[in-house]
Amino acid sequence: MSAAVENQRTVEIELVNGHGGVDPRKWEDLFLPTPLKLENRLRAQKIEARLSKLMLCGSTLRRVGEVFEKEIEAGLRQQPSSLQMENTYVPELPDGTEEGSFLALDLGGTNFRVLFLELKAGQLLREKVKHYHINDALRLGPGEDLFNFLADCVQDFLVSQSMEKETFSLGFTFSFPMRQHSISSGELITWTKSFNCGGMDGVDVAALLQRCLSARSLDVTVRVLLNDTTGTLVAGAHIDRNVGIGVILGTGSNGCYMERASRVLHWERPHSAVHDVCIDIEWGAFGDNGCLDFLRTEFDDEVDAKSLLVASFTFEKYIGGKYLGDLLTFTLSALARDGLFPADPNFRKLQTSHVSLFEEESCAGEVSRTLSALREACNSDLLSTADALVAQYVAHVISNRAAQLVSVCISTLLKRMDRPYVAVAVDGSVFKHHPRIAKLMNKYIALLAPAHQFSLMIAEDGSGKGSALTAAIAARMATRGVARL
Ligand code: GLC
Repeated sequence: MSAAVENQRTVEIELVNGHGGVDPRKWEDLFLPTPLKLENRLRAQKIEARLSKLMLCGSTLRRVGEVFEKEIEAGLRQQPSSLQMENTYVPELPDGTEEGSFLALDLGGTNFRVLFLELKAGQLLREKVKHYHINDALRLGPGEDLFNFLADCVQDFLVSQSMEKETFSLGFTFSFPMRQHSISSGELITWTKSFNCGGMDGVDVAALLQRCLSARSLDVTVRVLLNDTTGTLVAGAHIDRNVGIGVILGTGSNGCYMERASRVLHWERPHSAVHDVCIDIEWGAFGDNGCLDFLRTEFDDEVDAKSLLVASFTFEKYIGGKYLGDLLTFTLSALARDGLFPADPNFRKLQTSHVSLFEEESCAGEVSRTLSALREACNSDLLSTADALVAQYVAHVISNRAAQLVSVCISTLLKRMDRPYVAVAVDGSVFKHHPRIAKLMNKYIALLAPAHQFSLMIAEDGSGKGSALTAAIAARMATRGVARL
C-alpha cells in the first residue's frame, strides 16, 4: 500500500472514530493551521506563541459544540440563552409548484435591493433587480426615515419598470434578529452589522413597511417577512430537496435549520398540522451571555471595542466579514508592539478582502500583492518578504478559526437533525470569495461530526430568489386552506 493511501486510510479511521481509539494527538493536530515558515526560526516561534490563543484545538471546539447545543435547547424552551432560536413560521420548502410574480426586498448590507421575480412551476422565468445605496444618515438615523426610503425605492423601481399600477405580493428579507409573530410580522430585537436606527423599539417592521408603501398608493402587500438565512435555505432547497440548513457567511454570520415543530415552544399561531419549521438561530449573538468567554482573546476585545455595537454579537465578530479585516489589523498591531512586525497598519486600511487576498497568495506561494497592500496600509516601505509571510500567516490563523467556529455550529446541527444526509445551503461574500474557507469547513465539519453525511452548496441570492419562493410557498399554503402562519 502506498504511503498516500495509507495516510488517507488513517484519516478515514480517525474521522469515523473521532479521536477515540486511534491517536488523540494526531486528531488534535488536524485542527492546527499550517505552520509559519520563516528563515528566522526564532521569530516564527515567537509569532506562533503570540497567536496561540487564536488556535483552537479539537477538544476546545467540542466544548464550544456542547455549549452551543445547550444554548439551542434553552433558546427553544424560551429559557435564558444567547441564541434567539426564532420561529420563522416557514413550515414548508419548495416543491416545484411555486407560481406567480413577486417583489422581493433585501435589506441587511449597505446596498438595498428591490427585485421583481416571476416563477412558473418552481422555475425562475424573469428577474429584474435594482440596487440602492443606504448612506450613513439612513443607517444610523430614525427608523421611520429608513423605511420611508425603502418605500421610495420600491416606488422608483416600479416606475422604472412601468409596473406602478400593478398588484404585487412582497417578500421582505430583513436580515436582523426579529421576534416573529407570524410568517409576515415581527419586531426587530436589536440592530447588527452597520445599522443602528432609532425609534424601532416594539415596532413591527413588516407593518411599518406596509404603511410606508400604502402611503405611496402602491398596491403592494407584504406577505412574508424573513431572514437571509431562511431565504438561503429555501433557495437551496429549490435546487436540492436534501437541504435542511441555511448559512450566511458574509458581512455577518448566521444559520437556520429545519427543527421539529414539537420541540419549539414559541408559537403564536395554530400549528397542529406543522411537522417541521425553520428556526433562525441568530448564532452571531452566541456567547453574548459570557458562555464563550473561554475563547476570547485580547485581539477580539479590540475588535469589539472599535465596533458600532459594542458587547453584542460576540460570535459574529469572530467570523463575519465586517470584522475579519479589523482582526487582522489588531493582531498585526500586537505583533508590532512586541517587535515581531515592523509597522502598525492604519485602522480600517486592511479589510476582509485583504484576508482573502493574503490567503490566495499564500496558497499560490506568492507575496507581491500582499506586500504592496501592507506597504499601503502601514504607510511604510520597510516591509520585507518575510513580513508579508507573517501577514499571510495571521490571515490564515484567523480564517482557520472562523472556519472552525462555523463548522462547530453546522456539525452540532447535523448531529441534532440526525438525518441520513443533509445538504447545507451557504451564501455570503466570505464563503464565496475566501479561497480556502469552503475547504476548511468541509474538513472541520467532517472531523467534528464524523458519523454524519453532509455537503456544502452555494445557494446564491437567498435574499432575493429565496424571498420570492417563500412568498410563493405562503400563497400555495393559503390556496390549500392551510391555517395562516
Ligand atoms: C446578522 C443578523 C442576522 C443575519 C446575519 C447575516 O447576524 O443579525 O439576522 O442573518 O447578520 O446577514
